[in-house]
Formats: sequence, structure tokens, C-alpha cells
Amino acid sequence: MTRFITAAFAAMLALAGCDAVPGRPRPDARELAPTEVMAFETLYARNCAGCHGQTGRLGAARALNDPVYLAVAPPERVRRVIATGVPGTAQPPFALSAGGPLTDSQIDVLVRGIKDRWQRPGAVTGHQIPPYDGGRAAGGDVGRGRAVFASACARCHGDDGRGGPRGGGVADSSYLALVSDQHLRTTVIAGRSDLGMPDWRGDGGTAPLTPQQVSDVVAWLVAQRRPVPGRLP
Ligand code: HEC
Ligand code: HEC
Repeated sequence: MTRFITAAFAAMLALAGCDAVPGRPRPDARELAPTEVMAFETLYARNCAGCHGQTGRLGAARALNDPVYLAVAPPERVRRVIATGVPGTAQPPFALSAGGPLTDSQIDVLVRGIKDRWQRPGAVTGHQIPPYDGGRAAGGDVGRGRAVFASACARCHGDDGRGGPRGGGVADSSYLALVSDQHLRTTVIAGRSDLGMPDWRGDGGTAPLTPQQVSDVVAWLVAQRRPVPGRLP
């Protein structure tokens, strides 16, 4: 009897130490826990592609696969947006510390991957880029901004910014309720190259916007916000 128990015990030990049970997946075929994924493609596809586009373009949110945007936006800002999100907009916070699903190293992989794949040195050589930061605080003038809009934007977005032949309604209060002031400024500077909106340099027919004109036209757009979006003033 004792010998039987010893034998059974030895067999149990032998089995427990053996990983190659038939039917069990090999260690390298096992699904990684979400916080263990370190491949840029997987992280981007799972967390970003739904809004920023599968190839970083043509999503509902701005193109990240855009050398002009990446020349304009400071990398620490890109990191902060990914980590802590943009409150009041659809951009979620991704850092674990902000309630999101990703570790700091995973966010590093995303920031580096976006830069390595989609940045192109010299994308805007020969032009001074208007300062990225701004929004409401950049000293824009609403009256002058209206004039900038008329000369630089209305041919696509319509005279009053409610939509025109080549662009949608951007002075629309329902649209403005979904985005931050910085997003408007980023868009005026970097354009939406994937959708046919030129960057601040224009598309040839007009002079590049000056930093003051950028601030002015953003101030005008911001002034079109309404306390109750969708309701006419
Ligand atoms: C050549 C045409 C053209 C010009 C000029 C133009 N846009 Fe656009 N803009 C577009 C297109 C196309 C889009 C893509 C969405 C759409 O169809 O409205 C767009 C998108 C936008 C968006 C929304 C971006 C987003 O992703 O939320 C804003 C804001 C905007 N434009 C503001 C401006 C302002 C301000 C100016 C002038 C400084 C301007 N646009 C000049 C064509 C243009
Ligand atoms: C649910 C949709 C959604 C998802 C998912 C999403 N974004 Fe965004 N993203 C947005 C929107 C909307 C904005 C504009 C926010 C604003 O108004 O400032 C934005 C803005 C950004 C900006 C800043 C653009 C600027 O103004 O300089 C970066 C960078 C960015 N997203 C990167 C990412 C990355 C990387 C991921 C994946 C980890 C991601 N986003 C996931 C919707 C999304």
C-alpha cells in the first residue's frame, strides 16, 4: 500500500512538472495579457485605429500618419494626449494611472512607433511653423478672424462656415461641442491632408497664414460655440 501511494505520488509529481500535455498551447502561442503587448502594430490596431484610421489616415479623428502634423506637434504633447486624453472630447485617456488600459512602456512604444513610421524630416522646410500651442489664450481677435475665414476658408467651408462645396460645416455648434480649442488650432496649422484640407501654407493660391492669422481664425471658430449645442443663437 505504501509503495502504491509512493508510486502514485511520484507519477503526480512527474506529470505536474511536465508542460507538454497534449492539446495545451505552446507557451509562445498563448495570448498575451493586454498589458504585455509591446508590438506597435497590435497596440495601434487595438487602441487607436478605430478613430484615427487603420493606416493612421482617413479616420474620423485626425491623421497621425501625417509628416506635417508630426512636424507641428511636440512629442511630449502627443504623449500627454495619449496618456491622459482630452477631457470633453472622444479622445480617451490610455494610461493605467488615468484609468486607461496601457502601461507607461506601452505608451512609449506608441509614441516612438508613430514617430518612426510616419515622421519625415524636412516635411516643412523653408517655412516657419506657427506655434502649436494656443487656442483661446493665443491672443486671437474674433473680428479679424472672421475676415481670415472669409479669405482662407470660406471657399471650401462656405461663407459663414456652415458647410460649402468642398468642406463640411466647421462653425456648426454641434461639431464645435465635440472638439477642443487646441484641435481647431492643430487643424488650421496642420490641415487634414488625408481629406483634402490644406495646412497653414495653403494650396498655392494664397499666402501662408501668419501666426496671428492662425490665432485670429481659431478665436472666430471658438466664438461660434453655443452653451446649448445645436440650438440657433
Ligand atoms: C481646399 C478646401 C479647404 C480649405 C481652403 C479649408 N478647409 Fe477645412 N476642411 C476641408 C475638408 C475637405 C475637411 C474634411 C472634413 C470635411 O469635409 O469637412 C476639412 C476639415 C476642417 C475641420 C475639421 C477637422 C476635424 O477633423 O475635426 C476644421 C475645423 C476646418 N476644416 C477648418 C478650416 C479653417 C479654419 C480653414 C481656413 C483657415 C479651412 N478649414 C480651410 C477643406 C478645406
Ligand atoms: C474614440 C476615438 C479615439 C480613440 C480610440 C483615439 N483617439 Fe486620438 N483623438 C480623438 C479625437 C476626437 C481627438 C481630438 C481631441 C480634441 O478635440 O482635442 C484626438 C486627438 C489625438 C491626438 C492629438 C492631436 C492634436 O491636436 O495634436 C493624438 C496625438 C491622438 N489623438 C493619438 C491617439 C492614439 C495614439 C490613440 C491610441 C492609443 C488614440 N488617439 C485613440 C479620438 C480618438
